[in-house]
Amino acid sequence: MGRRIIVTSALPYINGMPHLGNLVGSILPADLYSRYLKMAGIEHIFICGSDQHGTPIELSAIRNNIGPEKFADMMHARTKRALEEMECDFTYYGKTHTEENKKAVYKLFEALDRNGYICSEEAVQAYCNFDKRFVPDRMIEGRCPYCAGTHARGDQCDDCGKLLDPQEIINPKCSICGKNEIEFRSTTNLALDLPKLSDGIVGFVDRIKGNISKNALNKTTSFVELGLKPRQITRDLKWGFTVPKKGFEDKVFYVWFDAVIGYIGITNEWSAKESEAYWMGSDTELVQFMGKDNIEFHTVIWPGILIGARQGYALPARIMVYEYLNSGKMKFSKSRGNGLNIENALEVMGAEQWRFVLSYLMPETSDTELSEDLIFEIVNKIMNDKIGNLINRAIVISSRNKTLLVGESVSTEIGNKLRTVLDGYVRNFENVKMRESLRCVVELADLGNEIMSAKMPWELAKCNDAEGFSAVMNDVLHICKYVGVMLWPYAPKAGSMILQNFGIKIEPQFGMLEDSLGFIPNNEPVQLFSKIGDKERDALMGFR
Ligand code: MF3
Ligand code: ZN
Repeated sequence: MGRRIIVTSALPYINGMPHLGNLVGSILPADLYSRYLKMAGIEHIFICGSDQHGTPIELSAIRNNIGPEKFADMMHARTKRALEEMECDFTYYGKTHTEENKKAVYKLFEALDRNGYICSEEAVQAYCNFDKRFVPDRMIEGRCPYCAGTHARGDQCDDCGKLLDPQEIINPKCSICGKNEIEFRSTTNLALDLPKLSDGIVGFVDRIKGNISKNALNKTTSFVELGLKPRQITRDLKWGFTVPKKGFEDKVFYVWFDAVIGYIGITNEWSAKESEAYWMGSDTELVQFMGKDNIEFHTVIWPGILIGARQGYALPARIMVYEYLNSGKMKFSKSRGNGLNIENALEVMGAEQWRFVLSYLMPETSDTELSEDLIFEIVNKIMNDKIGNLINRAIVISSRNKTLLVGESVSTEIGNKLRTVLDGYVRNFENVKMRESLRCVVELADLGNEIMSAKMPWELAKCNDAEGFSAVMNDVLHICKYVGVMLWPYAPKAGSMILQNFGIKIEPQFGMLEDSLGFIPNNEPVQLFSKIGDKERDALMGFR
């Protein structure tokens, strides 16, 4: 059997719409990689979904006056729609609050418990006598015992920055109801016994070393070296999956526990049969994409769950971690609510423009800055002036002079060049360096434009030099066809539009580049992209 790959992207929390950071830091690279696998004809699935549990979602639901499940499903539907508009081509985009996921969570939890990897931990937790519920640390507000500031929270003081315990806060208030009817109660929760799993986890980290982003490996190693501690997997809350264990039935699983297992639960929801073939297959490669705030969960805790449960699920084979996309001026923070999330980003400009810009700046090895000027430069000078312009000029001039176009072969020089650039493109994708692959596309567009400027085929056409004209334009058209295929993961509509000029009406495969050119003259100009101007600049400024 050949390779079978499960591609996953971290499941976005849906208490707010995902912002551009979620897109560039996990979903988009996963989508690009999955589209590459499609072009290479490698069997794979691409799984993602909404992370629906957790206190922030429960609180947003309370604020919106609806039940948490209704709220979570409404936000799931909105997120799914926006991601589809962003042309994210999931095999399945599911959600975590489903029967299938609950079954998967119970199965793994019960196996972990049977195998002796679940322990319990007692801790003191704030309880609100008005709301009749436990309140998470960071939802406790009051006065700071150190600086006397009034913006202290149960985990940290926002005035002096000191880390706090909720019991230290003076005059603690519950931020759900605003009353100060807090008491501290002792409560026992279940935990994953990571110390017991530590040998397995260390072995896993050692095996995956070469296939994990550097930043993630460093963090993981230092985390493991500090010594693993038990990690709580249940909470005294209502929103979530109830815990199927005597004495813990009034608690729910901690959101991250059912989120990571959600990768399996969501695949099961898509297709129970296929899911088993993928997750239990001996040739399966699990390739996971995430932002750097999710490292520990994927390199330590999630493998710990899989190892301890011994159910035969595939462990991660590759873990790709992205840095942050920052913007000094524009905001795309979920907590601020009004930032540039994927829904309002689409009101500024189209999906293909965003995909291209974000891929061009993809924060693979360091935090990256996104500015209005950069967006303008990439959309107008690279997408339009380089790629759009080449395609339009080449198609129009070849169509107008179709009678002069004889044969369809490429010169040895350009043929070799195309193969070299394509090899580099594929190598970059195999190494999950999508930002570099996109540079290969731009390199070809530059080459095409240079040939046009240097050889001036319009002059050859004027003097009816069919041989000279064909020699130039067949090279350029071959370049255009390669650009169409190679652009497709980044800008699927534009890529397909280019390829229609070569009779390709389905999703491209690399193999199609070995077929004959197949150029179809077309009298319409080819408008692949459009430039952005004052309207878009004003819209972007609105997010400052
Ligand atoms: N919901 C988390 C976030 O948005 C990611 C969870 S990744 C998963 O940061 F694997 F746990 F799903
Ligand atoms: Zn309260």
